[in-house]
Amino acid sequence: MTSPKMATSAKFTTFNKNTAYVIPVTKKSDKLVIGETNIEISDLAGVDLVGVGVSAELESLVRLSAPNGATYALLGVGTKPLTKDDLRNLGGAIARKLASFKDVVIGLPTSDSSETAVIFEGVALGSYVHTKYKGLTKGAEIKLQTVTVISSNKPAAAALNQISILAESVRLTRDLVNMPGLDLYPESLAKAVQAAAKGTGVTTQIWNEERLAKEGLGGILGVGQGSSRGPRLVKLEYKPKVGKRHLALVGKGITFDTGGFSMKAPLNMLGMNFDMTGAASVAAATIAIAKLQLPIRVTAWLCIAENMVSGTAQRPNDVIKARNGMTIEVLNTDAEGRLVLADGLSLASEEKPDFIIDVATLTGAVQIALGTRHAGIMGDQEAVDEVRGAAEEVGELVWQLPMASELRSLIDSEIADIANVKMGNTTGQTIIGGLFLNEFVGNRAKGEPDNIKWAHLDIAATAHNEGSPYGVVPKGATGSYVRTLVALAKRIG
Ligand code: BES
Ligand code: ZN
Ligand code: ZN
Repeated sequence: MTSPKMATSAKFTTFNKNTAYVIPVTKKSDKLVIGETNIEISDLAGVDLVGVGVSAELESLVRLSAPNGATYALLGVGTKPLTKDDLRNLGGAIARKLASFKDVVIGLPTSDSSETAVIFEGVALGSYVHTKYKGLTKGAEIKLQTVTVISSNKPAAAALNQISILAESVRLTRDLVNMPGLDLYPESLAKAVQAAAKGTGVTTQIWNEERLAKEGLGGILGVGQGSSRGPRLVKLEYKPKVGKRHLALVGKGITFDTGGFSMKAPLNMLGMNFDMTGAASVAAATIAIAKLQLPIRVTAWLCIAENMVSGTAQRPNDVIKARNGMTIEVLNTDAEGRLVLADGLSLASEEKPDFIIDVATLTGAVQIALGTRHAGIMGDQEAVDEVRGAAEEVGELVWQLPMASELRSLIDSEIADIANVKMGNTTGQTIIGGLFLNEFVGNRAKGEPDNIKWAHLDIAATAHNEGSPYGVVPKGATGSYVRTLVALAKRIG
């Protein structure tokens, strides 16, 4: 399934059978009214909008019959001027709610071509459903083939190309993240990423267990040693001829997180196939950056393992050694994300990039702090500001948590350099995760300065949408923050 075809048409001509025509609904002096539109609406003149259930609420949509066997789709557009984010979300809602039509015509006014483009972006991102695992029963279907905006503000070919590249990368992320752990395991994730990168200008290296041992990646090996399906590290590189800056992306890629011997309760274990979202997101972003030929060098490090229980799994109290030489006392095998990222951040740091961002479904606590629509962001202030700026540009939500250094001593270890958790502690768990990761960036473990800007994005609450779809976000894997990463590469490149 790919995105529908997008077109603009300067004028409305006639109603076509089986086609949906989107008409805005707003309020004037507290009364529901049809908003500005270039679609013929004389047939709606006598309709009691309230009576037929129409609402001005953003994203609400009611269908009425239109001439020639066509359909009016009365879309709530709120009462305030529409922002770009609103338009993107409306595009998403249109794609989802009118998915049963092959052709949709949108009669929303746009003031320039970037507004038309953002509606298209919403359509491309919103037209996604996960049906791969439906067998005899039929899942929701997207029949949408063409979406036409009636407007003379036609986006340039380059803008449309960018939309399709971004949507494809978000789709790739969602497809990978939605896969059950049965089918997606370290080797198959690594291979899927390699296949997706082929022909895009991104080179791929896959390190197997032997190589992981040779390279001293004790974190990834420790977490992966309990599974019959061994861990992997994937290094993706995009090296354009132009561009002086180097961005490193590090992703948590736990293909299933049982918790290991510090096992999760059954209810908490559900959904833990999403624990590889960070790795999928950084891979998809790297591919998009390469396809867009952005002038910045990008290296992505995917830290991939399956966190299982077996006779070979790591035990609580084991001590492992990360790539940077730091020893870690594993008090809780369920805090495994930080163990694999310790290696990834160390490796990334060795190349002395200008900027490192790691992306991880790291802590359940981030959902308690921020709810389900904001990712937690921490790290060096300058880096956090850049990521926040990038997220704002593309309409994704992040919220900063402090690097509260007074919590760092909670993870002092009596026997190793650091512990992965403080047992029994419920205070600031997301922050402690960030403080732990900080130790593996640049020369920080030694207390020496480095020239790396680092940010950590905790996407544990936003990777997966268990509620109803909204805006451009479907049910299940969201693919959120892939576009933020691409925008970040644009800003710092
Ligand atoms: N993968 C989980 C985090 C998670 C929890 C993601 C819920 C999505 C939804 C992570 O590996 C984990 O288990 N973290 C622990 C850390 C704790 C032991 C400090 C957690 O959040 O409970
Ligand atoms: Zn865990
Ligand atoms: Zn995890």
